[in-house]
Amino acid sequence: MDASATVTPFSTLIRTASHQQHTEAENSSFMSDLLGGRLGVEAYARYTEQLWFVYRALEGAAAALADDPVAGPFIRPELFRTAELERDLAHLRGADWRAGLSPLPATEAYADRVEECARTWSAGYIAHHYTRYLGDLSGGQIIRDRAERTWGFARKGDGVRFYVFEAIDNPAAFKRGYRELLDGIDADDLEKQRVIDECKRAFDYNGAVFRELGSEFPLSA
Ligand code: HEM
Repeated sequence: MDASATVTPFSTLIRTASHQQHTEAENSSFMSDLLGGRLGVEAYARYTEQLWFVYRALEGAAAALADDPVAGPFIRPELFRTAELERDLAHLRGADWRAGLSPLPATEAYADRVEECARTWSAGYIAHHYTRYLGDLSGGQIIRDRAERTWGFARKGDGVRFYVFEAIDNPAAFKRGYRELLDGIDADDLEKQRVIDECKRAFDYNGAVFRELGSEFPLSA
């Protein structure tokens, strides 16, 4: 193995390895239509609903992983999003939002994989944790801003609470701390590569969800 590979921090490796897929996610037709203000609030609600299934999988496993030597340090209650998603869904869909809730096939596969990693491979769970939460802390803020403007949600209010991390005062500092956790993962190079591969898989799952959302909300134009 190239000597430089062993000194590159893991947080840099995982970011670099997923960079291409990140660009694809940003440019997916569903995301660009959503952020371009070309879709109705129903598409945003349907997307939010899909996120609920993913975060329920991520956070439903959190208590069991809290003492795990590998994944445990990543379990931070200030990141939890399920309660915020539920408030957003109540706003978007009404008090009986649970009644009509259904995962797309891609969402179901994604949530199943998160749960499987949580049960059987805690380092793999970190790949999913990273892919969602670090993204929410970064690009999520752009999505929130667009959603507020497009559908008229109150700034950081109901509808966009998912994107608001009330308990994190300084997201940039939090992300630095998170990257330090990634860099300190107790895993050999082979295991780190497997985590990177799982991160790429996590991006694939997100891409598949976007594709299915895109089919459900095609642009008529
Ligand atoms: C249109 C949608 C999106 C926009 C505008 C966006 C934008 C951004 C921006 C501006 C950053 C900060 C980059 C930096 O700090 O150098 C970021 C980071 C990130 N995004 Fe996104 N993003 C989007 C979608 C996604 C999706 C769908 C995912 C995966 C589910 C994702 C995962 C991530 C991750 C994991 C990071 C952290 C990279 C790192 O620093 O290690 N993003 N995003």
